[in-house]
Amino acid sequence: MRVLSLLLVLFALAEAVSVNQRRRIVQSFNIRRSRSSDSTPLQVGNGNFAFGADVTGLQTFKPFAIMSTWGWHNFTLPTKPGQTSVQDYSEVLWWTHGRLVPYEMPNPDQNDISNWLRENPHRLNLANVGFTFGRPGVTEDDLQHKSQELDMWSGRLSSSFKYNGSKVQVETWADPESDTIAINVRSKLLKRGLGLFLDFPYPDNEKFNAPFVNHFNLTSRHTTALERLSHNSAHIKHTLGETTYYTHVAWSGKGTIIGPTEGTHRYSFTADQSDVQLIISLSPAPKRSTTSYRQIVSSSKAWWKSYWCSGAFIDLTAVRDPRARDLQQRIITSQYLTAINSASSYPPQESGLVNNGWHGKFHLEMTLWHTLPFARWGHFPLMWRSQPAMYLQFLPSAIARAQRQGYKGARWGKMTDPSGRSAPGEINALLIWQQPHPMYFAEIEYRSFPNATTLSRWDDILTATADFMASYAFFNESTRVYDLGPPMYPVSENTNPNATVNPTFELAYWRFGLDVAARWKTRQGKPVPQAWITVRDNLAPLPTVDGTYAVYEGIRDMWTDNATTNDHPAMAGIYGLLPPPASGKPLDLAALKKTAGKIKELWALDYSYGWDFAMLAMNSLRLGDPDQAVDYLLHPIFQFDDAGYPVGGSRVPTPYFPNSASLLIATAMMAGGWDGSEGKKGHWPRGWEEEVEVEGFVPAL
Ligand SMILES: *[C@@H]1O[C@H](CO)[C@@H](O)[C@H](O)[C@H]1NC(C)=O
Ligand SMILES: *[C@@H]1O[C@H](CO)[C@@H](O)[C@H](O)[C@H]1NC(C)=O
Ligand SMILES: *[C@@H]1O[C@H](CO)[C@@H](O)[C@H](O)[C@H]1NC(C)=O
Ligand SMILES: *[C@@H]1O[C@H](CO)[C@@H](O)[C@H](O)[C@H]1NC(C)=O
Ligand SMILES: *[C@@H]1O[C@H](CO)[C@@H](O)[C@H](O)[C@H]1NC(C)=O
Ligand SMILES: *[C@@H]1O[C@H](CO)[C@@H](O)[C@H](O)[C@H]1NC(C)=O
Ligand SMILES: *[C@@H]1O[C@H](CO)[C@@H](O)[C@H](O)[C@H]1NC(C)=O
Repeated sequence: MRVLSLLLVLFALAEAVSVNQRRRIVQSFNIRRSRSSDSTPLQVGNGNFAFGADVTGLQTFKPFAIMSTWGWHNFTLPTKPGQTSVQDYSEVLWWTHGRLVPYEMPNPDQNDISNWLRENPHRLNLANVGFTFGRPGVTEDDLQHKSQELDMWSGRLSSSFKYNGSKVQVETWADPESDTIAINVRSKLLKRGLGLFLDFPYPDNEKFNAPFVNHFNLTSRHTTALERLSHNSAHIKHTLGETTYYTHVAWSGKGTIIGPTEGTHRYSFTADQSDVQLIISLSPAPKRSTTSYRQIVSSSKAWWKSYWCSGAFIDLTAVRDPRARDLQQRIITSQYLTAINSASSYPPQESGLVNNGWHGKFHLEMTLWHTLPFARWGHFPLMWRSQPAMYLQFLPSAIARAQRQGYKGARWGKMTDPSGRSAPGEINALLIWQQPHPMYFAEIEYRSFPNATTLSRWDDILTATADFMASYAFFNESTRVYDLGPPMYPVSENTNPNATVNPTFELAYWRFGLDVAARWKTRQGKPVPQAWITVRDNLAPLPTVDGTYAVYEGIRDMWTDNATTNDHPAMAGIYGLLPPPASGKPLDLAALKKTAGKIKELWALDYSYGWDFAMLAMNSLRLGDPDQAVDYLLHPIFQFDDAGYPVGGSRVPTPYFPNSASLLIATAMMAGGWDGSEGKKGHWPRGWEEEVEVEGFVPAL
């Protein structure tokens, strides 16, 4: 099989989509705007740092964010006696198979510290940078001929407009290597009042900060200080409680930075020339930036060219079906936006570096969606920024969590931040589908790099994960099978946790995870722990109702209650995201088909969000219906805005990057097939195969 995959890759390489062809396609979807969006910026960035611009190329009228992987903040701890430190928090005991197990849930006797742990640390909007016009009250409507283009091939944002009869031209770039933006402004107005401002906000404890993050009018709660370093550089030190960071500004030619204006944290920069270049770098340390405008421009061009040329590619331009253009556009913009927002050294949050959801934290069940596309599209180094490093970093706290709860191995947390803590929450504590994710990552990495390095770097993680999974499964003396839950939340977080047992997706994923873990040991010539095999071979059967797969065992009114037929239709994941089982009974194809049909007919898809549509698309692919798969990927509820940002919809704010990521996972499967599937150029609607060009994909699991 593996030899065959390699041959397929080589075959595909022979038909390479040329650099020019790739460039033409990418640039044909360059983003153009003539006014600011109310909900999304245009961004330049590098995965760990991003700058969100309005129509001026800066943050003049819309306070979009500058966010990073490292910029976090804590409010002061509560002062209520007995709740003044993290150590004071006590987990909540829930009955679990006859014993009391402590869970990281909000403790009703300790509201203050429970809330603090959920809201802290939160991710910061580091600063705003925009134009000033020499007089107050200028609005976007006062600018004429506004036009901007984001060139995804080079990472250049070019913006221009006229103010008071004079043209202003702006180029905005991000450094691929550091948390730095480079700005070039050209205008005669620079000598007649046009300048720049820098301003610094203060956070709040709201769960969602969208479209804008933090506040510029809470000035007394934080401090800033300007230090001039040379005739053309300065830094501003920003201190918010325990958090301090520096905004280093350097400019070409003559310029002056002053401030802050009384009662604000707003600084002004003016240049005495009609062409100025600025380098603005953000850092937790007061280090001087050594890079130049020209260097950043050339690194950005080189990085993006290599990104677009080195990875896999899908060319749908010759396909006559009008759906192909929409799909191609979603693929290209999603590749640009996920590289900027999700290729970080910690897993990204759902809204990337655009704005904050869940206080800017990341969710370990979502990390598979966010990070897998890099691997599936041939960009392993971007996946390796966070994996497996994150699992290794959090392994000790995951082992401690399992121990406190009386399990073996490591239980991964859920809503998380760089400290590795899992935020208190009932769903957070009882969700389990994040547990087998390391097996998925490891197996995907192994098929591209089947060597000892891959085996050893994931071994401890997989062992601890499988040990937990085996010990979490509960042997039911009366049915003689291993049950999952209760209490637990399945993927669809809308069931009664005390009644939820043996959900279809989690059972299938447990089997998958234990299969991979066992194979991992065998590949290394090591013994496979018996407990893994015993649990795997005696897992409860996948629950069915009327010949369909059910959300969980014993669910009432499976297809007749609209409270059941909404949220994530995870049953489709057992044949969409997951491959058919490598052990045990094969899946029931008739039941899979009937389930897919019922979902299409009855599920509240207008209330669905995120990766639901891509998962349904992958299920359709394996069921042999690529036409339906494309329809799911273009479903009217699965929306992307004019700049390719995934629209949150009825449940979550915009953007919601699991949409973009899952679309890339599904289209990689269309292009590359999966183990055992036939089809040289992938799996496309009738009539597309001859017109599609694909390159560089390996089959999905
Ligand atoms: C916030 O506080 C927690 C708990 O004391 C600590 O682990 C974390 O490093 C702090 N983060 C920041 C950004 O101060
Ligand atoms: C589930 O059981 C726990 C106690 O183990 C209880 O606190 C909680 O309220 C129950 N939840 C529901 C929805 O019944
Ligand atoms: C426009 O420019 C002219 C000439 O420099 C100046 O006198 C006038 O104040 C400017 N108006 C605005 C609105 O900036
Ligand atoms: C402070 O700014 C926020 C937006 O960040 C705004 O909603 C609020 O009304 C402002 N408060 C005052 C007193 O101006
Ligand atoms: C395994 O493959 C990776 C990626 O090509 C490489 O960096 C590593 O050195 C290889 N390890 C071995 C033991 O061959
Ligand atoms: C064993 O499984 C049966 C059937 O699902 C269930 O009713 C029973 O509660 C389970 N026993 C325990 C101890 O969980
Ligand atoms: C379910 O149906 C009821 C009655 O028609 C309706 O009021 C409710 O909003 C629906 N709920 C969902 C989640 O669609």
